Formats: sequence, C-alpha cells, structure tokens
Amino acid sequence: MQERRLRSDRLPRHVAVIMDGNGRWAEARGLSRNEGHRAGIEAVRAIVRGAHELGIRTLTLYSFSLENWERPRGEVEELMRILEHYLESELDEVHRNGIQVRAIGRLDRLAAPIRKRLDDAIERTRDNREMQLVFALSYGGRAEIVDAARSLMREAELGKLDPDRLDEKTFAAHLYDPDLADPDLLIRTGNEMRVSNFLLWQIAYAEIYTTPVMWPDFRKGHLVEALLDYQSRERRFGLTSAQVRSGREPERA
Ligand code: IPE
Ligand code: IPE
Ligand code: MG
Repeated sequence: MQERRLRSDRLPRHVAVIMDGNGRWAEARGLSRNEGHRAGIEAVRAIVRGAHELGIRTLTLYSFSLENWERPRGEVEELMRILEHYLESELDEVHRNGIQVRAIGRLDRLAAPIRKRLDDAIERTRDNREMQLVFALSYGGRAEIVDAARSLMREAELGKLDPDRLDEKTFAAHLYDPDLADPDLLIRTGNEMRVSNFLLWQIAYAEIYTTPVMWPDFRKGHLVEALLDYQSRERRFGLTSAQVRSGREPERA
C-alpha cells in the first residue's frame, strides 16, 4: 500500500545505513549480545532484498567500525564469523539478483578467511549492475580521510600532483571507493543521533533519518518509512527554497 505513495522518480540514489542496536535488542530479551548480532543478520537480508526491490542503486551498510575492534574479543570474533557466514550463504541470491558487492575500510586488518570470502564475492559479482551493495568494514571516516591524504601526499612527492591544484574532486578520487556517489539518505537505527565516524566526507549533504527501531527489528516497511520521509524534504544544498523550486542546479565542487 504504502509503497504506492513512494515516488520512483525521487528515490535516493545511495542509501547508507548505520545498523545499530543489536546489543540492546538482545539485552531487552535476556539474550547475549552475540545473539543480537545473529538476529541482526535477518534484518540485513530483508533490507538488501527490500532496497533491491525498491530500486535503490547503492546501499552501504556500516557493518564494523575501526572502533569496534576494541570490543571484547568474543564479540569481535562472532561478528566476523557472522559476516563470513552471510557472505557464504547469501552470495548466490545476491548474485542472482544482479547485485554487485563492494567493500570500504581498512580491509587489510581482516583475518585471511573473511578477506578471501569478501574478495571472492567482489570478484564474482563484479559485472552486476542492478544494485551496489557496499560493506563498510573495519571502517572509520577519519581514517579514510587520512588514508586519502597520505595517498595524495605520495603523489605530490612524486611530482604527479601540484598541491595548489588540489580540489574536492581530486580529493574525493582518493577515497576508498571513488566510484560511489555520495549518500543521499543516511539511516541510523537504535535511537541514537550521531554519525559515529561513518562516511564523514561523503555525508556532507546527506539527509539524516533516525529511528528508535533496533536493527534486528528493521524491515522493508521501515525502509519505506525512511524513504517517504526523505521524499517529503526539500534538499537545498545551500541555495534558497525559491532557487530550488525554480529548478536551479546547485553548484557542486
Ligand atoms: C550494532 O549494534 C552492530 C555493530 C556495531 C557491529 P551494537 O552492537 O552497537 O548494539 P548496541 O548499540 O550495543 O545496542
Ligand atoms: C556504529 O555503531 C558502528 C556500526 C554500526 C558498525 P556503534 O554502536 O559502534 O556506535 P557508538 O559506539 O554507539 O557511537
Ligand atoms: Mg551500538
């Protein structure tokens, strides 16, 4: 029903999700945090399917932050196992649906087996064009900016880049995945109002939607709610409302 109210011509191209609240969802039920993470996988399945059915072009899932490495060892290991299992069990369906798997983050910190699974998934789905599914893994927004700066400095050192000519476009070309469009919509579940070091550069003009729903309970209907909210907003990119309504394209650097 509700989906009919969604305007297919005004969908966000790129939706990024901070999947938060697994631990609290579990604690509220007298379960362990790890059981919360396992339940969260059902939401991942539902949202990947849902986003694909709705025609979202890019879906980025904040799956594990650099800061998350500091969690108790048993929790980190379980999160890695879950992710590895997801890649193993879902890849056929993901591939069948024409979804391309990508990953951003300090992937060199991942253990060899999960890294291999991820590389295989990326390789196998490379030519798929229906939707991009991006896992932010061992990911930190500041680290990404530092890594881009480091790579730019190397180019400058080699004389391949003139510091005076550095602009936003060149900078963005050194981020982990320069082919991704910036997120239009950033969703955070789990009732928190913060960005927790996610895509700091890319969310400059993203619309932010937060919900008290804990990640394991998040389903396609909640995604549709977020999209409807997104479609009710006017994105101004610094212009006045009158300028936007007269159809002027904002200047993007
Ligand atoms: C999100 O749920 C999953 C990851 C951060 C990997 P949390 O584990 O952060 O759940 P809460 O925030 O403690 O409820
Ligand atoms: C953000 O959630 C990271 C992921 C969802 C992977 P956190 O639970 O780690 O964030 P904070 O600690 O509440 O800011
Ligand atoms: Mg959390």
